[in-house]
Amino acid sequence: MSQFYWNGRPVSFRDGETLALALRRAWVKDFGPAAGGQQARYFCGIGQCQGCLVSVDGGAAVESCLTLARPDAVVTPGAF
Ligand code: FES
Repeated sequence: MSQFYWNGRPVSFRDGETLALALRRAWVKDFGPAAGGQQARYFCGIGQCQGCLVSVDGGAAVESCLTLARPDAVVTPGAF
């Protein structure tokens, strides 16, 4: 099993697994601040709600439910 880093914490994932699913399996429910003062989280799972935005390796915010996990990626809350 490979791993990426969520706020510095290693998170294991399986090949073909999205960031959101791996975070969910690791019991991470709070993905950080989101637009409108909300809490980012895994909700729709299909890229529609924009509620699961995260940053990968310092890049622009992406939907964690659509983004495949990559080994050693550094994942942090989306930029809000
Ligand atoms: S959970 Fe809704 S866009 Fe990712």
